[in-house]
Amino acid sequence: MAVLETGRLALRRIIPDDAPFILELLNEPSFLEFIGDKGVRNLDDARRYILTGPVASYERFGFGLYLVLLKVGDTPIGMCGLVKRETLPDVDVGYALRPAYWRQGYAFEAASAVLTHGREAFGLRRIVAITSPGNAGSKALLEKLGLRFEQALSLPGSGDIHLFAVEM
Ligand SMILES: CC(C)(COP(=O)(O)OP(=O)(O)OC[C@H]1O[C@@H](n2cnc3c(N)ncnc32)[C@H](O)[C@@H]1OP(=O)(O)O)[C@@H](O)C(=O)NCCC(=O)NCCS
Repeated sequence: MAVLETGRLALRRIIPDDAPFILELLNEPSFLEFIGDKGVRNLDDARRYILTGPVASYERFGFGLYLVLLKVGDTPIGMCGLVKRETLPDVDVGYALRPAYWRQGYAFEAASAVLTHGREAFGLRRIVAITSPGNAGSKALLEKLGLRFEQALSLPGSGDIHLFAVEM
């Protein structure tokens, strides 16, 4: 069942059966470079990631990273959602798509719906995002979403990052 729907996309909770897709997504060179190595190398690792990451987040906060699917064909293309990290006071928006689906406005469509959901379903008035300083695509997306650069900082587990934020 979808948590969110947009014109072209459905976003739903990630479940252990999504392990084959998650295994591929987390090992994309772009994911490893810009987000990091989650150490997911096989289906068991992927199921463990799903349970300790997104599923644990749904249980603890009510939100988390969702699977993004094209409504046509029910094809999974990536993930997008809200994350509450120990290392940041605010909730941040996160996203990663398979490269075959880049530059078609899908990340903007998914992340716009996630920001609205953060405000309307969870009462969030400020949402942040972290991105590696060289991630031009992510920065362009954040600016289009209305987030503004606030500061460069170093976060445990994330390294040197740029912090963006929007007040809603
Ligand atoms: C970042 C990412 C999600 C962008 O997804 P996308 O679906 O291509 O983004 P959109 O098509 O919605 O583009 C949104 C805007 O950003 C721009 N943009 C996207 N990728 C870009 C790039 N590589 N360079 C410059 N601008 C870019 C688009 O042109 C668009 O702006 P426009 O409407 O003015 O043209 C995708 O590249 C990705 O998954 N990257 C790997 C994972 C990652 O880096 N995640 C973010 C970690 S912080």
